[in-house]
Amino acid sequence: MDKIIVRGGNALKGKIPISGAKNSALTLLPCALLTDEPLTLRNLPRLADIDGFQHLLNQFGISTAIAGSRPEDFGRVMTLQATRLTTTVAPYELVRKMRASILVLGPMVARAGEATVSLPGGCAIGNRPIDLHLKALEAFGVEIELAAGYVKAMAPDGIPGGTYTFPVVSVGATENALMAASLAKGTCVLHNAAREPEIVDLCNLLVDMGAEIEGIGTSDLVIHGKDRLHGATYRVMSDRIEAGSYACAAAITGGDVELIGAKADEMDATVNALRQAGVTVEETKTGIRVTSDGKLKPLTISTAPYPGFATDMQAQFMAMLCMADGASVLTETIFENRYMHVPELNRMGAHIETKGRTAIVHGVKGLTGAPVMATDLRASMSLVIAGLVAEGETHVSRLYHLDRGYERLEEKLQLVGADVERVGSD
Ligand code: EPZ
Repeated sequence: MDKIIVRGGNALKGKIPISGAKNSALTLLPCALLTDEPLTLRNLPRLADIDGFQHLLNQFGISTAIAGSRPEDFGRVMTLQATRLTTTVAPYELVRKMRASILVLGPMVARAGEATVSLPGGCAIGNRPIDLHLKALEAFGVEIELAAGYVKAMAPDGIPGGTYTFPVVSVGATENALMAASLAKGTCVLHNAAREPEIVDLCNLLVDMGAEIEGIGTSDLVIHGKDRLHGATYRVMSDRIEAGSYACAAAITGGDVELIGAKADEMDATVNALRQAGVTVEETKTGIRVTSDGKLKPLTISTAPYPGFATDMQAQFMAMLCMADGASVLTETIFENRYMHVPELNRMGAHIETKGRTAIVHGVKGLTGAPVMATDLRASMSLVIAGLVAEGETHVSRLYHLDRGYERLEEKLQLVGADVERVGSD
């Protein structure tokens, strides 16, 4: 298996192109199910999860054609067409590899009147149930059955419509509900819906396809269902989590990096936290410029649904704050097991104590390179960030976690002077 070797000590300087957002692309792709016309998505990132989702959609008989990148995009163009479906079943062997597969449930039952999707099972950062996905669909009049590890959704006479208030903010459940509601026979209302920029991206695509949605960007959404939606061409938003990750890399190395394509207004909480840590963050015509003298102030951060501080940024900030001048307090409120990067960072000389959902990050004078193991997507990036400032070599293994969410990571870091390389297993 491949690994990445990071030799610390270089301040990152230059420009990094930011890819299309993985967490937007994964909910835009299943929208192809909502029409028999072609759907063209631009700026798609080259990631394992995108390839996996494309393979899943192909199983349903959806054609997918990849074209090269447009000059103004970093990502690829993919045209999808669900002229007719060959099956409405998403099998275990595909769903178990990628939790986001559950996002075919809503659009599939809206399109075909039924959908059978394997239950996703847990993942490294927690058991990640789908009860809210199912409750929202049931509130809209979809019949749900659970049997033999599969969930079956049925609406043979169409989705009547209804109202659902989420007890907990859920990005995926909001996305499934939105896609199903767009083809409902009546009106669907969601309260306490997720407001992440990826949800806004999904709403914007659905509207481009002919959907009628009120309250976009707020936690109260009203969707007036349509008989049919048409095709569209849509550019996936830039990846605010990738941008935030490279911002932490620039900050910890005392660098000066422009993140091309990043939008400050989609990552306010990250930008504000960086500024509180003493990092300079400026909006430019083409993105965001992050400069630091390497002196970092400690922070107290709690993760929260958007517009709060993103849980997907917690591990990366933890790595950066290992070098802060004092102790930081991080509280992970979204997932119950999202501190698996802590033991690995401590093996690099960090001094982090965890107690339940809280982590105390005591700033240290320096970190030491070590062989470390990625455990989940954002944890792997935190190890790379720590390696960029550590003395000596850090060998990061189990890169399949990293490749799910960071396109061409070593190339992008080499662009700004990092000493990193990807090597095959010895
Ligand atoms: C999305 O996951 C993202 N993934 C995650 O990013 C992100 O961490 C998460 O939202 C929160 O922002 C994609 O968009 C593909 P949730 P999702 O439903 O939709 C509980 C990354 O690193 N919950 O908002 O699965 C759940 O257990 C990934 O890119 C239920 O209880 O997250 C969690 O505690 C990791 N029942 C909380 O809600 C449900 O039916 C938030 O989960 C659904 C969720």
